[in-house]
Formats: sequence, C-alpha cells, structure tokens
Amino acid sequence: MYAIAIREPGSPDVLEWTEQTDPRPGPGEVLLDVAAAGVNRADLAQREGNYPPPKGASEVLGLECSGTIAELGEGVSGWQPGDRVCALLAGGGYAERVAVPAEQLLPIPDGVDLVDAAGLPEVCCTVWSNVVLEGGLSEGQLLLVHGGSGGIGTAAIQIGRALGARVAATAGAPESLRFCRSLGADPVISYREEDFVEVVKGLGGADVVLDNMGASYLDRNLAALATDGHLAVIGMQGGRKAEIDLGRMLVKRLRVSALGLRGRPIEGPNGKARIVSDVRERLWPLVSQGHVRPLVHERIPLPEASRAHATLEAGGVHGKILLTRP
Ligand SMILES: NC(=O)c1ccc[n+]([C@@H]2O[C@H](COP(=O)([O-])OP(=O)(O)OC[C@H]3O[C@@H](n4cnc5c(N)ncnc54)[C@H](OP(=O)(O)O)[C@@H]3O)[C@@H](O)[C@H]2O)c1
Repeated sequence: MYAIAIREPGSPDVLEWTEQTDPRPGPGEVLLDVAAAGVNRADLAQREGNYPPPKGASEVLGLECSGTIAELGEGVSGWQPGDRVCALLAGGGYAERVAVPAEQLLPIPDGVDLVDAAGLPEVCCTVWSNVVLEGGLSEGQLLLVHGGSGGIGTAAIQIGRALGARVAATAGAPESLRFCRSLGADPVISYREEDFVEVVKGLGGADVVLDNMGASYLDRNLAALATDGHLAVIGMQGGRKAEIDLGRMLVKRLRVSALGLRGRPIEGPNGKARIVSDVRERLWPLVSQGHVRPLVHERIPLPEASRAHATLEAGGVHGKILLTRP
C-alpha cells in the first residue's frame, strides 16, 4: 500500500507518499480501506519529531479516518466487511489501509458524507471527553472555547450549543470570529485585541473552559472560571510550564485537568472504548440530527499531505482539513 512517510523530522516538505508494508488486522482489530484522514495539530508536532506515537502504534501519521471495512481480525463481532465507518486512531490514518481496534470504530452518522466523517472522531472524542465527561457541562452553563474556529474549536462550539449551553469563543482574525458566531458562539472574543477574562467575568464566569494554549493562558483561564468551574487543558500551544495560584483554586473550588486522548489504553475507566461508546450513544444522535456537523475547510489528496500541513501551520483554518484517498 501507499502511505505518507516522514523522511526526517522537519518542515512540511519532509512528508512523502511512498510504498509501505500493508498493515494486518490483529485479534480484535479490523482492516480499513481508508477513504479520507483528518489532519490534526498534533500531526504537525509528530512530523517535527516532538510527538512520537505511543508504544505499539503505527509510525504513520493520522489520528482519525473514515473508510470501509476490508477484513475482520480474529474475535471481532458487530461489524462486517463492507461497513462504512470512521475511526479514532493512535496513528496510521495517512495511508490507503489501516488496522484499528474494533472498539475505536464508529458508524457514519446519518446524513454525513463518508469523506467528511473522517474529521469527526478525534475532535468529537476529545471535546466530549473533556467538556462533558470531565467538565460536566450542562444546559444553561457557560462554556469558553479557545481557538473556536479550528478543528477542535468548531466541534466544541457546536457541541456546547447542542447541549443547551451558552458558548463564548476566542479567535484571531475577524473572519474567524464571524465564523465562530455563525456556529452559535456569543460572545466571540478577539484574542489579539480583547481581554477574554473581562468579557467572560462580565457574564458571571465560565463553568467550563476548553483550552488549547496551556501555560500562557493558565492564570487567565483560572480567573475567567466561575465558582466550581473546570479548566480542561488539551493543548500546549502557549507552552507547558506555568505557576498556579492554588489560593484562587481553593476559594473558587476550581478543577484543572490536562488530558491526552492518544496514549490512553483501549479498555478501563479512562480508556478509549468508553469514550467512543459514549460518543456513539449520546453525541452521534446530535450529529445525525444536524446539530453538530463536520466542518471542512479543504479536501486535499493524501499524496499532497505536505500542502495540508503548511496550510494548517499558516493559521486561519476554519474547521478541518481532510486528506482524501487518491
Ligand atoms: N489532548 C488531546 O487529546 C487533544 C486532542 C486533539 C487536539 N488537541 C489539541 O487541541 C488544539 C487544537 O487542535 P486542532 O487540531 O483543532 O488545531 P487547529 O485546527 O490548528 O486549531 C488551533 C487553533 O488555535 C488557535 N489559536 C492560535 N493562537 C491562539 C491564541 N493565542 N488564543 C486562542 N487560540 C489561539 C487558532 O486560531 P486562529 O486560527 O484564529 O489563530 C486555531 O483555531 C491543539 O493544541 C491540539 O494539540 C489535544
């Protein structure tokens, strides 16, 4: 099969479409014929050599994909060859074929195009696990989403709104702010020109903050939280080390989590299987009803993955970039 290889750690042009060994489905896995793969910011870090795959995972980039089941590994039930699915991956999506544990498969939601579905698993599982399972967001609460126009951000705004929460979102460019507003975020806050803490405090404080920035926003995120609020850190675009004011946390009874999805085990209380099955049971109906839609910035053929990475790196992407099977 053909897949994207990283020639050496570096800039987007180190990505090459090369012939590689076909993956085989192990016990409990299925082999997928990939239709499309989602591009995630983590892929950029892996390409640069800063985010190695977890032990046992494919070296090929790609944390999510859609496609058709080609073969079942030993002991898999509930799925058939020919089923159209999308999948959460620990790696391997930038390829013609990928082997994936059956627990990480999701059906294509009603009304969603097979290619577009490639952009759903990673963002939906990340947002659902952080904002709902950990953060406990509920109807009438205020969710603050940083980076609201990106892949994660667009999913988070829609999910928050679909659950009946008010959603505030930050973004950079005016067109990105308008895009967040079109998804139901109100207010939208320019991270270049405005102080999100003042805006959010003016609304009584956020019950949940979904944060992609990490260190550079830690103190301000805690300041923006309401009493009993939850800060869910999922990214470190603004650095990994910062001081924390425990006094502020104690007085306001705040919780901070910093959770990665990729390295989780499949089974167990914090495993991927539980997240995927909760997403299927509770979020997939909202997707099928059109309340949460895959938002695609651009489809780019898989062999041109370097162009996809350069586009994401340049910023200003609205929703997801998808790599399609040539
Ligand atoms: N923990 C996990 O399991 C997990 C899983 C998936 C993703 N993530 C993390 O989630 C984050 C988003 O991932 P993605 O794939 O959705 O990437 P993405 O589409 O590239 O989105 C990144 C976003 O960051 C925004 N941004 C840049 N500077 C900012 C600032 N100073 N304040 C607020 N936002 C700013 C960008 O907004 P503009 O374009 O407007 O500048 C963009 O919307 C990444 O940090 C990624 O590593 C974590």
